[in-house]
Amino acid sequence: MTTTINGQARQADDVWEGESLLYVLRERLGLPGSKNACEQGECGSCTVYLDGVPVCSCLVAAGQAAGRSIVTVEGLASGDDLHQLQDAFLRTGAVQCGFCTPGLIVAAHDLLGRIPQPTDLQIREALAGNLCRCTGYEKIMEAVRLAAREMSGDAE
Ligand code: FES
Ligand code: FES
Repeated sequence: MTTTINGQARQADDVWEGESLLYVLRERLGLPGSKNACEQGECGSCTVYLDGVPVCSCLVAAGQAAGRSIVTVEGLASGDDLHQLQDAFLRTGAVQCGFCTPGLIVAAHDLLGRIPQPTDLQIREALAGNLCRCTGYEKIMEAVRLAAREMSGDAE
């Protein structure tokens, strides 16, 4: 199976076309950022971009992903430099066990790409498919608000 992942052509061998993209990323390509929590499309922890659209990678068959472009949470950073959104999650305490974090960051990244200054309602709607058992969501809201301000150059 050949795909473009985080801007680079990648090949995975011995892939059964019915196994999940999440499995291919984690187990065959050494990209463990996307998390496997439910494997049923319920929690959002496995969210990645597929041709620019956020999807639950546990629900995408490897055969469907072949030849397409995938961006994972790892691909949002620039080398060792975290993306501002990733950094905002850390600084606001929005990362606790961290299991939900990669999916939330991809979903929030998509939101801020579409709506640079979202309202709280828009943030809640955009993140409604991403479940977090630890934070009560307020820290996550803070993180997205902070990143929106900083990415727009409005930080104090
Ligand atoms: S692991 Fe994919 S949605 Fe939960
Ligand atoms: S930080 Fe633990 S599930 Fe969200």
